[in-house]
Amino acid sequence: MAENKESLNEKKEFQLELAKYLAEKDFIYGPEPELYSPMAGFYSYGLLGKAMKNNLENTIRKVFIKNGFFEMEFPLISPEIIWKASGHLDGFNDPVISCSKCNSSFRADKLIEEQTGIAADSFKDEQLIETIKEKEVTCPSCKGRFNLEIKRHSLMMKTTIGRDIVAYNRPETATTTYLPFKRYAQFFRQKLPFTVFQIGKAFRNEISPRQHLLRQREFTQAESQMFLSKEMKQNFELFEDIKKIKLPLWTEEMQKTEKKWIEITVEDAIKNKVLKNKAYAWNLWLSYEILTSAGIPKDKIRFRQHWSDEKAFYSDDTWDLEILLNSFGWVEMVGISDRTNYDLNQHAKFSKQELNVRLENGEKIVPDVIEIAFGVDRPFYALLDLAFFRREDAQRTVLSLPYNIVPIQIGLLPLLKKDNLPEKAKEIMKELDDYRVYYDETASIGKRYSRLDAIGVPFCITVDHQTLEDNTVTIRERDSLKQIRIKISELNEKLKSFFKDGFKE
Ligand code: GLY
Repeated sequence: MAENKESLNEKKEFQLELAKYLAEKDFIYGPEPELYSPMAGFYSYGLLGKAMKNNLENTIRKVFIKNGFFEMEFPLISPEIIWKASGHLDGFNDPVISCSKCNSSFRADKLIEEQTGIAADSFKDEQLIETIKEKEVTCPSCKGRFNLEIKRHSLMMKTTIGRDIVAYNRPETATTTYLPFKRYAQFFRQKLPFTVFQIGKAFRNEISPRQHLLRQREFTQAESQMFLSKEMKQNFELFEDIKKIKLPLWTEEMQKTEKKWIEITVEDAIKNKVLKNKAYAWNLWLSYEILTSAGIPKDKIRFRQHWSDEKAFYSDDTWDLEILLNSFGWVEMVGISDRTNYDLNQHAKFSKQELNVRLENGEKIVPDVIEIAFGVDRPFYALLDLAFFRREDAQRTVLSLPYNIVPIQIGLLPLLKKDNLPEKAKEIMKELDDYRVYYDETASIGKRYSRLDAIGVPFCITVDHQTLEDNTVTIRERDSLKQIRIKISELNEKLKSFFKDGFKE
């Protein structure tokens, strides 16, 4: 794994190098439209990137489903009333500052972060102004000074339905997951918790997105919603299965007193009131389970509690799962929020309909919601950020991506383009139905290995003259460079075990 980049300059260099690499290697193109005038905050997933994104989404999907969640899909565009009810039209905005010289506008907190390394998300407008003044933050476009005034910029992306119905592209999937609540009540036969997730596009009209996939105007979210009673939060049965697991937790108090986060069992976190309730703790664990299943190393993860003045307008308690990236330092990947019954109450009020369930004791309640909110794009970027390094020893660039999300699983290489080796290789290809296989007979074998290492292909199968004699091939593993010789008849079984449990000689 690459060393973490410490200084802002090192990080910047890494960001640029990675972005260039991802474009050249067909992971991420953009900003789009590249062919005309690129617009910041819009990217394409390229021919390899899209395959990897699908694999990542499927890993996320699998973990949610294994843990009892059902997936739904709601339209991306909804009329104004929904966003009035949710609170986004009035409360979803960013602090913006503009340059006194060239008039360009920027998001004030992000600009401070970029130029000084100070995390300013939770700063009030006066603090933002003060920091910009004190640290002499300048305009990235012209190096001019800023007008010392913060304006609020709505993140909602407006559109029209038909001729004149005002509507918005959704800024989160969550709100749209709440709307069919009455349907869920029927499906789950009124028995809480209802567990639903949605993976899909969301839109935010960011003023100056400048962090590659981490801050886009159109992006893919994956968000789960657990509807439950207040009583159930304290007595959450599934908690028993995970209570001994340790999580790295960094409370508001630890942050304020500049203490490091602690590794603590979920059980102790509840006992010591670090976490408020068992259901919330379980959701925190689930977010950890999703990202580690996708291949993010545990030692790059921590949970940071939001400060009381930092939480979103709908949240009672929020922790962010953060990942330590080479390009940007610690970055928020997931937000786990206790949204209470704020959303259902709002939608009940605006739709003038009852959104409640009847408990076994006959009592009618409006359930609370615990949300796991993340995007697919950020973990995607994180996996590449952590996988990208140049091996000085072998003078090669390797993408050490986790096996389960690589876009191409297998390279199939005849040693030479003659002596019936290509024909034999193509015969073997027919046996490898479960994988995306990249067949390559051009250039020297060393060059071909390097090309495949550079896009993260974990295994190369080489067909040589011995193959013709005894029906064996070599398998070469990407990270260890180890090679083993095995029978073609055992190929599928071996590969299956490598993809499941890791490479073994
Ligand atoms: N649903 C929470 C968010 O989009 O940040």
